[in-house]
Amino acid sequence: MSNTVDLTDKILVVGGGRMGSAIIEGWLKQGVSPASIYLIDNNRDALKVYSDKGLHTFESVENVPQGLEFKVFLLALKPQIIVKHLAQFNRLISPSTCLVSVAAGVMVQTLLDMLPNVNHVVRVMPNTPAMIGKGVSVGFSESRSLFETLIETLFASLGKFYWVSNEEEMHAVTAVSGSGPAYLFYFAQCFIEAAQSLDLEAEFAKELALNTLIGAARLIEESGIDVETLRQNVTSPNGTTQAGLEALMSNNEVKERVEACCVAARKRSIELA
Ligand SMILES: NC(=O)c1ccc[n+]([C@@H]2O[C@H](COP(=O)([O-])OP(=O)(O)OC[C@H]3O[C@@H](n4cnc5c(N)ncnc54)[C@H](OP(=O)(O)O)[C@@H]3O)[C@@H](O)[C@H]2O)c1
Repeated sequence: MSNTVDLTDKILVVGGGRMGSAIIEGWLKQGVSPASIYLIDNNRDALKVYSDKGLHTFESVENVPQGLEFKVFLLALKPQIIVKHLAQFNRLISPSTCLVSVAAGVMVQTLLDMLPNVNHVVRVMPNTPAMIGKGVSVGFSESRSLFETLIETLFASLGKFYWVSNEEEMHAVTAVSGSGPAYLFYFAQCFIEAAQSLDLEAEFAKELALNTLIGAARLIEESGIDVETLRQNVTSPNGTTQAGLEALMSNNEVKERVEACCVAARKRSIELA
């Protein structure tokens, strides 16, 4: 079995919603041929977009022709739909198909139990910035050595890719990078509202807050300097930043809330599994 993806290898995608379509768009940008992607989704509008782009599209599994061999089966349905409907896709799996599931909290064993034809499963947890190629995706697979290059190639256009060697760690990954964008969007919302409370014109306050966040994130990325040093570098003794930080950091309250946030998300991921 080849460990890379060839432009003519057939790829099956089940679920072309937010995450499925972000991944498909990444593949198309990377040069994967639209004609090699077979998409099953019960949403006609989503299918129309992709049939116009040259993908093979199907409203249900019954419409997929018999005898096709898929190198990759990307599963991008909601976990609650998977539990009800996954078994029907078993006939589309051949012994060499690699099942790639992006479903949060759905364990490898659950997928193997529901799809007896599957020999190889890779779980990947992407996050929403994948839609603009700035995502963080984390993979776990017991067949990692067989599929490492294939998976890293398939997810390359979505941003950074990392592996974990223990499936349990996927709960922590879900809590940090999977759910993380929402925490940062909430921080952004608080920052905008705080800026607006300082009697600046609302739209201007929002621009200042958001562009400061974006600039700070880019500085972290491009400078390579650790975040604590970056903070110290802009904090003059007795200056305005110090005054602001003292209010933000008093009682360690923010730090404790952020930790509680990650712990609660990991706990929920374990409960849902
Ligand atoms: N979005 C994220 O940020 C994110 C991050 C990490 C992981 N994930 C994972 O990605 C998976 C998909 O999430 P999503 O946000 O992309 O969901 P979504 O936008 O709801 O996409 C799912 C798609 O599947 C379709 N569908 C539903 N039932 C179907 C069936 N039986 N057969 C074929 N298609 C069906 C849906 O159509 P209808 O709309 O008509 O129901 C929809 O187009 C989830 O397991 C989630 O855990 C998502």
